Amino acid sequence: MVNIAILGYGTVGSGVFDVLGQNSETVERQAGQPVKVKRVFVRRDYPSSEADPYMTRDIDDIMNDGDIRVIVEAMGGLESAYAYAKRGLSLRKHIVTSNKELVADYGAELLALARDNGVNFLFEASVGGGVPLIAPIVRNLLFDKILYIEGILNGTSNYILTEMSVGGKGFAEALREAQTSGYAESDPAADVEGLDACRKLSILLSLASGCRAVWTDIETQGIARLTEADFLCAKSLGYNIKLIAGARLSGSSAEAYVAPRLVPYGHPLYSADGVYNSVLLGAKAVGNVMFYGRGAGKYPTASAVVSDVIEAARKINENTGIYWSSETLDILPPTRAERRMIRAERGEEFEAVAARLWPGAPRVSIKHCQRETAWLTEAEDSSAVREKLAALEETSPGTRILSAISIIGT
Ligand code: HSE
Repeated sequence: MVNIAILGYGTVGSGVFDVLGQNSETVERQAGQPVKVKRVFVRRDYPSSEADPYMTRDIDDIMNDGDIRVIVEAMGGLESAYAYAKRGLSLRKHIVTSNKELVADYGAELLALARDNGVNFLFEASVGGGVPLIAPIVRNLLFDKILYIEGILNGTSNYILTEMSVGGKGFAEALREAQTSGYAESDPAADVEGLDACRKLSILLSLASGCRAVWTDIETQGIARLTEADFLCAKSLGYNIKLIAGARLSGSSAEAYVAPRLVPYGHPLYSADGVYNSVLLGAKAVGNVMFYGRGAGKYPTASAVVSDVIEAARKINENTGIYWSSETLDILPPTRAERRMIRAERGEEFEAVAARLWPGAPRVSIKHCQRETAWLTEAEDSSAVREKLAALEETSPGTRILSAISIIGT
């Protein structure tokens, strides 16, 4: 029998309790022994909950209990989660977490501590929600040289973009729905500003490179500035808009970004809608691989956590060797030339000036924004496009650049 404790009984913690209870037989078969929740650490009462008999407000009930071999950290936040993870690992307890902040900030240190203590620090649920992503990468792909990672890593922002694009909803209404569905972070700014996707990308980059990818080194832009007009113009030109987290690895460095991107019809990420996450990954021997599934929500996330609990139970006396060093990976913004959709409010002589700067560029106007035009550029690097935009505003007085969104993979 493996006794476990769950820290936190919010969306993820209660989901883990339910999924373990509902699947106890298959969990036992896979783990090779019964897995039992012995304690649930909470900071308030949940009187009518099935987990009530296991609840404690004293962390020492868990840390000092030698029978508890696996701790599921489902509290979120950073300070307590870090302190408890560190203490648990030092006491030779396996730690399973869905906490992206914890893994992104302290992954190298906690993995090393787990290794030193012959236990595991497991975090399948920290990236991609219910999508099995970390395990296949570690088990099947890491021996190969990972060349790129590109995908949708935040369910909340993808839900909002989908609702704005196909559901015709406003940003605030779509965000409220994502919060009600249990997708959003307690402070949804992390979702809409791209920080959550950025932390997840840094975790994948750390795994892929074997070095610590510092998430604050990744140039990050969220979705809050996108407007209905951006979606309408993108659609007229055959594109969807997605928040993409992307990285290209070469040698000891990587070019990485998180930003809205135009995704052309037919691209593998075009139809990943709603709360779904989708990740494309390229490695030398295998070529392109794609992962797809629910990226947030109570039960998808709990499913990923439970898969790690089973892994910990199977390897109860063994460290599985997942590791990245504390050496920092060099991260640069993308330097490649990119095609873009630019949208502007037209000033004097706009047509003539724009035609001179971007000859032959396909243009669209949308009905309810009579004074605006959007057009697609050829591939240009960011300094070239900045110069042209400045020239446009200067030589066409009254022209105002409203947005410039790159096309994925150009
Ligand atoms: N807020 C996160 C998301 C939860 O929407 O993707 C899952 O990590």
